Amino acid sequence: MKKIIPLLLLASSLWQAPAHAQDKGKIGISMPTVALQRWVIDGLALGRSLGKLDYEPDLKFADNAPKQQIAQIEKMITDGVRVLIVAPVDGPALKDVLQKAADKKIKIISYDRLIRDTPNIDGYATFDNYQVGVMQGEDIVNRLGLKDKAGPFSIELFAGSPDDNNAFFFYNGAMSVLKPYIENGRLVVESGQTAMEAIATPQWNGVTARLRLDKLMTAFYKTKRLDAILAPNDGISLELLATLKRLGYGSQGKEFPVVTGQDADLNSVRSIIKSEQSSTIFKDTRALADVAVNMADALMQNKPIPVNDTKTYNNGVKLVNSFLLKPVLVDKSNWSKILVDSGYYKSYVISK
Ligand code: BGC
Repeated sequence: MKKIIPLLLLASSLWQAPAHAQDKGKIGISMPTVALQRWVIDGLALGRSLGKLDYEPDLKFADNAPKQQIAQIEKMITDGVRVLIVAPVDGPALKDVLQKAADKKIKIISYDRLIRDTPNIDGYATFDNYQVGVMQGEDIVNRLGLKDKAGPFSIELFAGSPDDNNAFFFYNGAMSVLKPYIENGRLVVESGQTAMEAIATPQWNGVTARLRLDKLMTAFYKTKRLDAILAPNDGISLELLATLKRLGYGSQGKEFPVVTGQDADLNSVRSIIKSEQSSTIFKDTRALADVAVNMADALMQNKPIPVNDTKTYNNGVKLVNSFLLKPVLVDKSNWSKILVDSGYYKSYVISK
């Protein structure tokens, strides 16, 4: 958190809304937290794109607390927003407040994470979340050489927060690749913990995941090597790597296990360059912000929103019209091409 606040302050100081930004009305942006770098970049990218179209952005971060997010959205409703762009902390918790919004004819866009159990969603802008999991699973299979019948190898599995719909898509995607190898014995989960309930990480809290790994290492890997970890995002990967380092992995000929990730957070990119974390999944949040802003703009004009998927995301009440962007695997071989050449990061920021 401490590291993120200066980033937020710096970024906000760089973000100036254009002079006429109030002409077309106010749009609320509700992001889950500043504790993970990506949401800060998302929030600012959304604000910038809305400003360019002469909307007035109202950006708030919810500190990973569902009640705080509800209160912030209530305030946005009172303040007269015309559209809400919301990445929910807790998928089903927003039902009532979104009903209040819909009663005032406010349009609602679900951003990156699916808002569940409500009819009041006008569009969903996200990535192909199942594919994110598939790519994480495939990265483990490829690095261990499982297709060439190498192994058996040991693996432990970690998943995201059970109140985040995405976490299930990531998990199911990864398991679609890993399960056959677990079943044929090429991958061995020494802890036996493979079910979502056993491996989930509430609130995506990296420390919680690290404490779980600490216990697993003591119970199952005192003498045995751990070869791979399915880590669902970079915040968790980096915490897990701290435990691995403490136990001597990465030094004296003891190689790190394969450790996956997601988000291309700066510190994970640096870790990949140092050959610690194996890979991450890059989701270009600039492109996601543009999709959400185009949705908002279309809704404001009563025009059809951009949609390329109408079948994948059922939020418990209805199938939601969605636009899915493509995730990209990033590792030591392509980080510069994918992240620097695309202008997502400046190379001097990575090497700082
Ligand atoms: C997002 C990930 C993020 C995670 C934790 C997920 O819903 O898709 O990019 O790492 O939440 O915030």
